[in-house]
Amino acid sequence: MKKSVRKAVIAGNWKMNKTPAETTALINEMKPLVADADCDVVLCVPYIDIAAAVEAAKGSNIKIGAENCHWEKSGAYTGEISADMLVAAGVDYVITGHSERRTYFGDTDVTVNKRTVAAVEAGLTAIVCVGEYLEQRDQGVTNELVAMQTKIALQGIPADKLNQIIIAYEPVWAIGTGRTATADQAQEVCAVIRNTLAEIYCPKCAEAVTIQYGGSMNAGNADELLSRVDVDGGLIGGASLKAADFSVIVKAASK
Ligand code: PGA
Repeated sequence: MKKSVRKAVIAGNWKMNKTPAETTALINEMKPLVADADCDVVLCVPYIDIAAAVEAAKGSNIKIGAENCHWEKSGAYTGEISADMLVAAGVDYVITGHSERRTYFGDTDVTVNKRTVAAVEAGLTAIVCVGEYLEQRDQGVTNELVAMQTKIALQGIPADKLNQIIIAYEPVWAIGTGRTATADQAQEVCAVIRNTLAEIYCPKCAEAVTIQYGGSMNAGNADELLSRVDVDGGLIGGASLKAADFSVIVKAASK
């Protein structure tokens, strides 16, 4: 099977940026710029912006995602949001296991797995983030580490739910640093992820899964990164806050 069998997905990750009013303005600016996209376009926004984002994106090709979810359906979890709540709010996607959640908020491979399972059970598409720290790359353990993160994150996800899974390879050293992985580095690890999926599920199942690269992807380097056979899209932080830059990346993925 070829790359053409998979959906290219460009997803913005706004992180802790934008108020509801700014959300409406930015999505209104983006809508015409991405209207002719030949890829899926997703914006993952802060919880507080979801209502405004869903409203602004109505009738367009932009889908809305959240940046995290809790694994329980409801209960005494102050400050948390469940996957069912996200669905009820009109959300279609959710990021799980972003390195900032792992690094600053105690997420582990086990909790990332729980969040991913809950997201998929609720009907969301999970954008599952994996990736190594610079130290781990220097130690030569990137491939093993990313394979392990992928395996643990997907425990309990059956093959017939893989269409609700996107894996985002995000080397931590490239996130928000302006330092991008080379296209060769991105391709190598995305291929490792696909081989891991083939091992857990089956080669044909693995061919159908969208694998993104994330980490300082921008209007200038998207073309090159997305040209690689196993890089099916991008998870975009900084450049997703600028309509013009984001739309250039969407165009690169639409080729
Ligand atoms: P960046 O963020 O594009 O700003 O590096 C990517 C991400 O964290 O998903």
